[in-house]
Amino acid sequence: MDWGMKNRMSRLLKPESGRAVWLAVDHGYFLGPVSKLEEPGKTIKPLIPFTDALMLTRGVLRNCVDTSLNIPVILRVSGGNSIAGPALSNESVQTSMEDAIRLNASAVAFSIYVGTEHENKTLTALSGLVNEGQRYGMPVLAVTAVGKELEKRDARYLGLCCRIAAELGAQVVKTYYCDDFEKVVKACPVPLVIAGGPKLKTELDALKLAHSAIGEGAKGVDMGRNIWQSENAIGMLKAIREIVHKGASVKEAAKFLK
Ligand code: R5P
Repeated sequence: MDWGMKNRMSRLLKPESGRAVWLAVDHGYFLGPVSKLEEPGKTIKPLIPFTDALMLTRGVLRNCVDTSLNIPVILRVSGGNSIAGPALSNESVQTSMEDAIRLNASAVAFSIYVGTEHENKTLTALSGLVNEGQRYGMPVLAVTAVGKELEKRDARYLGLCCRIAAELGAQVVKTYYCDDFEKVVKACPVPLVIAGGPKLKTELDALKLAHSAIGEGAKGVDMGRNIWQSENAIGMLKAIREIVHKGASVKEAAKFLK
């Protein structure tokens, strides 16, 4: 790995622990003004001090985030699909590597749709992005997307997706927590972080999810809705930080919700 790539990676995953808490606020790229993210700037601003990195699109970055931002940016560079369209899996690269560099991104993020009609298209695009990333020292975060088919989130399917993403060269993979998650981790030779998925019933459920994932080998979380759709978004981030960075139990972390 060249110095630039290594340096970016060390901004993403804390060198002392290899762990991180990232805030995902990229949902608008296919969901539009999703609940609690209607005005992204207002949602994001108070959460920045409790976040190790922000995952978002160039549109929200340029228009809603102050240029004094002092945490790394994970730039969502894929899109071209929408919740209203015929196939969520029909996603492609929309933002150039040049623009990602111009925006001082520390990584670019791309979703793959394994097992769908757009499997080859999205995997080929991931490889193309990795090739460009190697050229410029830019890590690629592959997101194992399931679209509307949330029931796909099991170890067999996610293990397949994560392994393929790593084989194609992604430096980091984002997936979902599932039963037998340690099998997914074991078979993926690059760091894994987890998404939260749609908001769970309680804050405690989300903390349990993060705790289990970290306990079974995830290097961190890249969560969105379970944080900013909570009435206590800052408390949630503080609690998750305790779990990820300090190895806190769910009970210990839950104190930060108060
Ligand atoms: C998809 O919308 C994006 O990749 C999100 O960044 C990802 O799903 C994480 O957000 P959440 O925790 O809300 O699932």
